[in-house]
Amino acid sequence: MSNVFKGRSLCVIEDFSIDERRYFFKKTNELKKAILNDDEKAMDSFRINDPDFGIYEVFLEDSTRTKESFRNAANFHHAKVSELLCSSSSINKGESYADTFNMLSGYSNQIFIVRSKVEGLTKWLSEETSEYAERNGLKYKPAFINAGDGKHEHPTQELLDEFSFLEKQDMDFSHIHLALVGDLYHGRTVHSKANGLKIFDSVKVDLVAPSELMMPENYIEIMKENGFEVNIYPSIEAYLDNGDIATMWYFTRPQLERMGERILKKEAELREAITFKREFMDRLKEGTKFYHPLPRHKEHPTIPTFLDKTDLNGWEMQAINGMYCRITLLSLIAGKIGDDFDGKSAKERDYKSEEYIVEVKPEKKENKEKNISEGVRPIRDGIVIDHILKGADPKEIRKHISLISSVLGLDEGRGGEWISQAGDGRYKGIIFRPGLRDFSRKELKRLAACAPHCTLNIIKDGAVYKKFRTHMPPRIYNFEDMSCKNEACISAPESKEGVAAKFYRTKDGEYECAYCGHVHSFKEIWNKR
Ligand code: CP
Repeated sequence: MSNVFKGRSLCVIEDFSIDERRYFFKKTNELKKAILNDDEKAMDSFRINDPDFGIYEVFLEDSTRTKESFRNAANFHHAKVSELLCSSSSINKGESYADTFNMLSGYSNQIFIVRSKVEGLTKWLSEETSEYAERNGLKYKPAFINAGDGKHEHPTQELLDEFSFLEKQDMDFSHIHLALVGDLYHGRTVHSKANGLKIFDSVKVDLVAPSELMMPENYIEIMKENGFEVNIYPSIEAYLDNGDIATMWYFTRPQLERMGERILKKEAELREAITFKREFMDRLKEGTKFYHPLPRHKEHPTIPTFLDKTDLNGWEMQAINGMYCRITLLSLIAGKIGDDFDGKSAKERDYKSEEYIVEVKPEKKENKEKNISEGVRPIRDGIVIDHILKGADPKEIRKHISLISSVLGLDEGRGGEWISQAGDGRYKGIIFRPGLRDFSRKELKRLAACAPHCTLNIIKDGAVYKKFRTHMPPRIYNFEDMSCKNEACISAPESKEGVAAKFYRTKDGEYECAYCGHVHSFKEIWNKR
């Protein structure tokens, strides 16, 4: 069987399945022991040992730990290790990320490690450089490792965090009780935990943060859907007063650089709620460890420095574990280890099998006039889009009718719109346009994407001769007039990279950006007109 890890990218933690991650932790444990025991043979079993194997670091945002632990990990491998000096690169002359990374792919590089403020960058680059490799007949399609993208994800931090938690509990995957304390709103390392902690059979998470810094609702929802027990506390004090206190606390730094004016005004008060104090010491359970992805702020550390020399200090070993974890990850992606993995692998989603535009047989009606909604004159030839946003309130339906009309280019000419009440009393929208018109497959897809659960009637000689029911397409892309509304996303117009938006339907009937994971309703994805 081929090595399932070889050439894989890690852009979000879910790019590796639970089995794959558990395998990763087992291998990291072996590697760490080998290094600590100077076991050269065991170390060599991890080493890429190829001076032509290109590992490239591109840090478009500041970093100490991630960048340097990756560099040291890459050096362990006796590989070709390079770094793009971003401050003196042509990116500063306005060169696109596509041109930059495509070029570097052409110089025999197999793995890129990328940190950026631009969310979803590595996911998109893995697609973009793959096409470049194809059209230029390159020997390798490069793999990408997300070393942190904006406030989206930091999957390698997630791996090293979990490895550190596992070490504390002797590699026991059965349960974890973890307190997440600090800036849970901006901290990408805590966002990765919503899916990252799925490696444990049962999970209890205590979220300790004032409302301004609380974890975004979508991540809390993911945690709950994943079966985690989630408890919320506004401050460390409130947690110690009322909580079932965890023995593992994971702190994150208030990310002032990502905060708006309004929150900054309350800076001192917010810090107070999430900073550990000497008087709290006696209220901790025996064996408690604190973790932190670091850096700590030198003036306002939320884990004060007087704790450095206490048994609470788990953050130093956590940072050291960063190098071990990254050695293992590079080894896996290079295909040096992983042949003996026999669990379930993460799979690409399959979207092909589902039909979302269903042609139905038009019903024959005795008296068509009778069945026409109030106020709507029957049309002889033309189209009627019915059941628009059924069940919503009339104001919302009216707004949406206007969007559909514009998305489908129905703004011109004769016809009208109507809000009607269905037999069950619920409101629904209707658009009718006289004039013969057939819908291409692409237009039907647009209709389904902006007006799911409606019907399209094509009328000819006063009778419905074609009728379609629309459902939400499982994936939409290649429409120029839609975009991700997360301004930090690589596919948002603000990035100026010209990346076409792509969305996947979620199980809650919303659209998730394929790059940054931002969730939108089907009404939000279209550009304002
Ligand atoms: N934990 C972490 O990402 O640290 P750096 O920003 O120093 O890489």
